[in-house]
Amino acid sequence: MIFTVAIDGPAAAGKGTIARAIARETGFAHLDTGLLYRAVGLRVLEGDDPVRAARSLDPTSLDDPRLRHADVAQTASRVAVLPEVRAALLEFQRTFARREGGAVLDGRDIGTVICPEAEVKLFVTASDLARASRRYDELRAAGQEVTLDGTLEEVRARDARDGARATAPLRAASDAVAIDTSDLKVDDAVAAALSVVRRRLAGA
Ligand code: DC
Repeated sequence: MIFTVAIDGPAAAGKGTIARAIARETGFAHLDTGLLYRAVGLRVLEGDDPVRAARSLDPTSLDDPRLRHADVAQTASRVAVLPEVRAALLEFQRTFARREGGAVLDGRDIGTVICPEAEVKLFVTASDLARASRRYDELRAAGQEVTLDGTLEEVRARDARDGARATAPLRAASDAVAIDTSDLKVDDAVAAALSVVRRRLAGA
């Protein structure tokens, strides 16, 4: 069966948690596409050229814990504005999306550019303060020295850059189902997303 769940939205809105839960419940394969841009960002921080880094990326080894760092996230958002970087990462994501057995991809442009034919499209949002405080808790739990104000500034800077770029800006597909997680418990957000997927699976 070919069945794609495309999950887009801004940083720390809960896309990853929802994507992992859907993958667990359905058995679909999951790809966190932000990790591709983060991997390019990390290589750039190490002195590599962004386009060369994107073209030579091994998309099957994305488990480096350094990819979670805040400076890697900012660099990822900067390299993601480059059309050549996005083009280099496109084919891998498209092939992943249409693999046999079903796939869940989360990112910024999955429902709009990578897989406009996705069977389910979700647009997951939350207020910037809700997102910043979640990201702050995560980073602190991972032992990183950050402040809530600094995290809020970083979230806003990334939102502005991700939303304003010319190529594949962050926006909801016209046929996406919106889920605002600002005031939802994790379980309720996951349940809302799963019910959309199950309805579509039952009708598919
Ligand atoms: O989801 P994330 O925080 O790991 O993403 C890091 C950056 O990568 C994000 O600020 C923008 C970019 N990105 C993108 O442009 N398109 C995607 N599909 C996923 C991430």
